[in-house]
Amino acid sequence: MSHLDNSPPTPGKFKMDKSPYIHRLRLHGSLAKLTFWSFVFLGLILIFFFRSPSSNSLPSDPSRRSLRTYNWGGPAWEKRVRSSAKVRSRHGISVLVTGAAGFVGTHVSAALKRRGDGVLGLDCFNDYYDPSLKRARQALLERSGVFIVEGDINDAPLLSKLFEVVAFTHVMHLAAQAGVRYAMENPGSYVHSNIAGLVNLLEVCKNANPQPAIVWASSSSVYGLNTKVPFSERDRTDQPASLYAATKKAGEEIAHTYNHIHGLSLTGLRFFTVYGPWGRPDMAYFFFTRDILKGKTIPIFEGANHRTVARDFTYIDDIVKGCLASLDTAEKSTGSGGKKKGPAQLRVFNLGNTSPVPVTDLVTILERLLKVKAKRKITKLPRNGDVQFTHANISLAQRELGYKPTTDLQTGLKKFVRWYLSYYSGGKKASG
Ligand SMILES: NC(=O)c1ccc[n+]([C@@H]2O[C@H](COP(=O)([O-])OP(=O)(O)OC[C@H]3O[C@@H](n4cnc5c(N)ncnc54)[C@H](O)[C@@H]3O)[C@@H](O)[C@H]2O)c1
Ligand SMILES: *[C@@H]1O[C@H](CO)[C@@H](O)[C@H](O)[C@H]1NC(C)=O
Repeated sequence: MSHLDNSPPTPGKFKMDKSPYIHRLRLHGSLAKLTFWSFVFLGLILIFFFRSPSSNSLPSDPSRRSLRTYNWGGPAWEKRVRSSAKVRSRHGISVLVTGAAGFVGTHVSAALKRRGDGVLGLDCFNDYYDPSLKRARQALLERSGVFIVEGDINDAPLLSKLFEVVAFTHVMHLAAQAGVRYAMENPGSYVHSNIAGLVNLLEVCKNANPQPAIVWASSSSVYGLNTKVPFSERDRTDQPASLYAATKKAGEEIAHTYNHIHGLSLTGLRFFTVYGPWGRPDMAYFFFTRDILKGKTIPIFEGANHRTVARDFTYIDDIVKGCLASLDTAEKSTGSGGKKKGPAQLRVFNLGNTSPVPVTDLVTILERLLKVKAKRKITKLPRNGDVQFTHANISLAQRELGYKPTTDLQTGLKKFVRWYLSYYSGGKKASG
């Protein structure tokens, strides 16, 4: 059933019984006629307005992605939602995971489910990268009992419905338009998901009763042109190097207002270059692997004066531990129905690995694991949003979350390559 079919039959409320008006018409002539037609006109406007429940969330700018219509609703659907979100351990939490078919979302959902928490996924399965990989992740989650609702975080009626069906204690918000370079091609998608979508989600959370605590993904990209390393949470983040970074930074500021005004408990996590099995094909470690195996030349960027480009690569399992620790230490929101009872928790943490690795070393490790020599082409780092160096100071996360990354790049890439080869073996997709 489409959510349009699922809307309350409000138009009926505004249908007018015409007979009294017709009766009056005869008595009062033209004045009554005028009143009658203005009521009809008003009625038509209201009917038009209430027929499209998502009309206020439809983007008016045609360059932005419009909301697709997804199928949701109905007793069978609600049953699946409830069953997926059902808490199965004694002190478990119930979590709505947005972006659940994404790289990080899949791993976090699986980890929560494993320890007995209730998990419901939400994802729009967009085609920013191969949607069949998202479908394969969905199938993986399905087998462990996690249902992913197909929909957009901009869809307010859908989100409200989910909170009506399940009293989520937590939201793990990972749905976003990721990627630095794609922002030059499709800026609207960043505004749609990272700004408009975030605001829509926070609006629904604000009105939910009880209000959930929210943990969400910001990005190390907020450090932008900052050159003081390692990056600490207190460092300046007002010089974004890409539109992606700017929307992530905007998200942190938006989070502040919802915390301040509405008492939402909010934790922002600044991830540093996450990699691992089921990863994202748009990231260098992933397409380097593909291109090395194909014998295709790979571009290796270097900074000005031949300075190496390096990244603080963080293995997915370490990121997952940081996400779970954030959920577990999140305090309750302090407002409900838009009324705030007291100050609520507001945090931001770096989640990195604290050991930057030059991209040339990344390639050398991949060559060894794949047993294929890479065709390297040294190229100057274009000014399209990528920064030269990232390095996380994680002492705050260490202190507050007990966060301690344990996987080095060698070990992590070995696991990635093993997954990659089995997933893409012979062009057909394995599932493990
Ligand atoms: N992977 C990294 O290295 C990294 C680094 C820094 C920050 N992050 C952030 O972490 C989060 C998760 O990243 P990821 O690597 O898993 O990315 P991903 O692209 O694999 O996952 C994001 C998921 O969100 C979904 N999505 C996008 N817009 C949506 C919308 N409007 N409504 C519903 N679903 C939508 C996509 O279909 C996708 O499945 C993102 O916020 C990203 O910006 C990731
Ligand atoms: C890391 O950040 C903490 C504050 O969170 C600060 O006290 C410490 O000096 C920083 N370390 C470095 C090496 O910059």
